[in-house]
Amino acid sequence: MPSTKYLRPIAVLGSSRSQGNTGALLKLIAGKLDMDVIDLGVADITPFDYEHRNIGDEFIPVLDQILQHDDLIFASPVYWYTMSAQMKIFFDRLSDLLSVETLKNRGRALRGKRAHVVSTSVSPEAGVGFDEAFEKTFSYLGMELGSRVHLDCSRGFDREAGVQLVQEFVASFGSTQRV
Ligand SMILES: Cc1cc2nc3c(=O)[nH]c(=O)nc-3n(C[C@H](O)[C@H](O)[C@H](O)COP(=O)(O)O)c2cc1C
Repeated sequence: MPSTKYLRPIAVLGSSRSQGNTGALLKLIAGKLDMDVIDLGVADITPFDYEHRNIGDEFIPVLDQILQHDDLIFASPVYWYTMSAQMKIFFDRLSDLLSVETLKNRGRALRGKRAHVVSTSVSPEAGVGFDEAFEKTFSYLGMELGSRVHLDCSRGFDREAGVQLVQEFVASFGSTQRV
């Protein structure tokens, strides 16, 4: 029997609260997809440092966990028209993979992975600033843009609307869907 370890998606949650709207939307997805979740809110990942003095924090262990998967789900609320600070710090640290010689193989390992985006805000759409930050970063790193889901939480967390949207979101994941 072939191992399915590398076929399961992994989700990266970057929010100022683990159990908030974005966490709740991700939980609906986890009910449909067999996947791991990394909560950046509890990981010790510090902002990008040109001198790489923070190379011993949890960025590399978290990244290594992510690199074991082909489908990466990035979940972030919209904070001030773009991604959360937690997610931005993580994305900034991807620059380590471009500048530290011993990490460049990890940067190359991101190529070809499918990157999916999950978001919530109090608007019907996440907005151009939010979407472009993800799309252009994925493109720069050679990653493929996968599925997209956004939930408008202007009237609180609408579970029913979330279930409906998640149904469409998970449809592209094929065999990793829970039955
Ligand atoms: C610091 C901050 C900035 C926000 N900026 C925006 C924004 O620019 N546009 C928007 O529609 N909602 C904005 N919101 C609302 C959040 O996107 C929305 O409540 C989201 O569902 C929160 O998700 P969370 O519970 O995972 O934090 C902001 C909320 C916070 C706390």
